Amino acid sequence: MLKNGKKRIKEGVFSVSCDVRKSDLDSPEAIELMVECFYSKIKNDPRLSRIFFELGKVDLDKHLPHIKRYWGKLLLGNPGYDRHTMNIHRALHEKVNLGPSDFERWLALFMETIDDSFSGPLAKRAKKVASNVAGNMSSSLKVDLD
Ligand code: HEM
Repeated sequence: MLKNGKKRIKEGVFSVSCDVRKSDLDSPEAIELMVECFYSKIKNDPRLSRIFFELGKVDLDKHLPHIKRYWGKLLLGNPGYDRHTMNIHRALHEKVNLGPSDFERWLALFMETIDDSFSGPLAKRAKKVASNVAGNMSSSLKVDLD
């Protein structure tokens, strides 16, 4: 058993309880929980888990710290994330051919994660940022969203 009641399970991933009293995304700990809750939904989604784990060969032990730092920068202004996410998704797109439904599903799970467990101005901001980034990313990859 690890801190916060998290259990390490197969694939080096955490099983995490997302049924919590809602808080804002105003601390690194809250962002950490949000990212873990989001990825537990991704793991349970057939198409996205195939993209991440079978085709994309994502190692969550390496990937999650990047994602946590990414949101820490965007929501809290913390330093520590300085990577080119567009190039990373361009390479992913070349490999797996992302479609509109992949972006829609990614965004729906992200929104659901926030609405289930978080509330407040930064939670609202996270939803806006995710939706803007998904829109920009899909149009630069020439994936048409409705
Ligand atoms: C169809 C939608 C999306 C899919 C299927 C997807 C999938 C992935 C995958 C598989 C990776 C790991 C790639 C690798 O390490 O080679 C990744 C990285 C990442 N994604 Fe996405 N993504 C999507 C949309 C988004 C959006 C909208 C955002 C931001 C709001 C985002 C933020 C990130 C970040 C920050 C990384 C980490 C890059 C790094 O290693 O520094 N993704 N994504």
